[in-house]
Amino acid sequence: MKQDLIVILDLGGTNNTVLARKIRELGVYSEIHPHDIALDALKALENVKGVILNGGENRVVDGQTVEVRPDLYDLGYPMISVDYPQSKCETKFSVLPGKEELKKFLFEDCKAQTNWNMKNFIADQVELVRRQVGDKKVLLALSGGVDSSVVAALLIKAIGQQLVCVHVNHGLMRKNESESVVEVFQNELHANLIYVDAVERFLGKLKDVADPEQKRKIIGGEFIRVFEEEARKLEGIEFLGQGTIYPDIIESGTKTAKMVKSHHNVGGLPEDLKFELVEPLKQLFKDEVRACGLELGLPYEMVYRQPFPGPGLGVRCLGAITRDRLEAVRESDAILREEFARAGLDKKVWQYFTVVPDFKSVGMKHHERVFEHMVIIRAINTVDAMTATVEKVDWDVLERITNRILGEVPNVNRVCYDMSPKPPATIEFE
Ligand code: XMP
Repeated sequence: MKQDLIVILDLGGTNNTVLARKIRELGVYSEIHPHDIALDALKALENVKGVILNGGENRVVDGQTVEVRPDLYDLGYPMISVDYPQSKCETKFSVLPGKEELKKFLFEDCKAQTNWNMKNFIADQVELVRRQVGDKKVLLALSGGVDSSVVAALLIKAIGQQLVCVHVNHGLMRKNESESVVEVFQNELHANLIYVDAVERFLGKLKDVADPEQKRKIIGGEFIRVFEEEARKLEGIEFLGQGTIYPDIIESGTKTAKMVKSHHNVGGLPEDLKFELVEPLKQLFKDEVRACGLELGLPYEMVYRQPFPGPGLGVRCLGAITRDRLEAVRESDAILREEFARAGLDKKVWQYFTVVPDFKSVGMKHHERVFEHMVIIRAINTVDAMTATVEKVDWDVLERITNRILGEVPNVNRVCYDMSPKPPATIEFE
């Protein structure tokens, strides 16, 4: 392994990730592990240079105060503790150490090298994946989203044709999205890619379904079924690649960290389809995943895509999906993205998209009365998607987008701008 490692043991600290990030920002790799990690598991981690015992307000679990195992101190690693007054470390901090204090621990006490960078991370993961997978095959659902794209690129580098990617086009992708998955992964990276055109199948299942939750369930459930059908056609697959990233693991909760949400994996695959997981990004934060994608040669637009809901445009074509409104969402979204990029807003605004509601309004075109669809533009800023504020888009930009949508998107005669923050509105409409 190419990287030195600082282990953070979670004794109820609420700032484990802040600490891990501070250490990584100093060029040293760090990982968070549970406070009661088995000694063998700790010894099995390669290149451990030091350990930080990170206590905090969640150290009391079910009335019991958690402690590290006493024999941990015998292992001889340089060790400090944070917010853990009962610890046996010589150096104890009551709050997170500052940059200079951390540097002293990392570089003087632990003698760590600043060898945490994407090149080394990729080299390490390539080696680990090859060790794990051997000559077997790995299956990966490649949506074209950031995480699945980066995993695919990394696995292609590690195991080439032993990776089988399945891309399901459910008809709810944005304009040119499926095409770019094929272009990048099949034509440029020469991936073993199975492209499944399931557009008719999804739209058929969704016909006349207006309830948002039911729509989401149908899209999610049908996706699993299509993926399962493809998996059954293949032989000799023993592994499933997954774009799990660090926040997914941390948010699932450790013994002391409170659970934020359960870890969303491909879950729902039938019991008899048993795969071992390959999750090479599971130690990366989102910005690190993007850096990894760029280092692997993925296009900037793919790696810096804005968040896109799993059910895709299905939740932006409001109510029961119709083909003309679905096309109106897709085309208006493409225009919005083009114009935001032209105005430099694509790097400034967190998320922006269009929706088409399921009612019409009266208008005039070529001196004739028309009764047509409406496009609503939404552009928001947020840190964590829990709350959001509306972007104050320049009037001229809005006017240009409006004129283009009215001129270029069929069956649309009205454009509105959504002024609602979250809460009370959510970011998406459904
Ligand atoms: P809401 O609408 O809840 O959205 O304010 C918060 C953020 O989550 C995205 N979103 C999803 N992402 N699968 C996802 O991966 C989903 O089903 C989904 N639904 C909403 C939404 O785009 C926003 O960024």
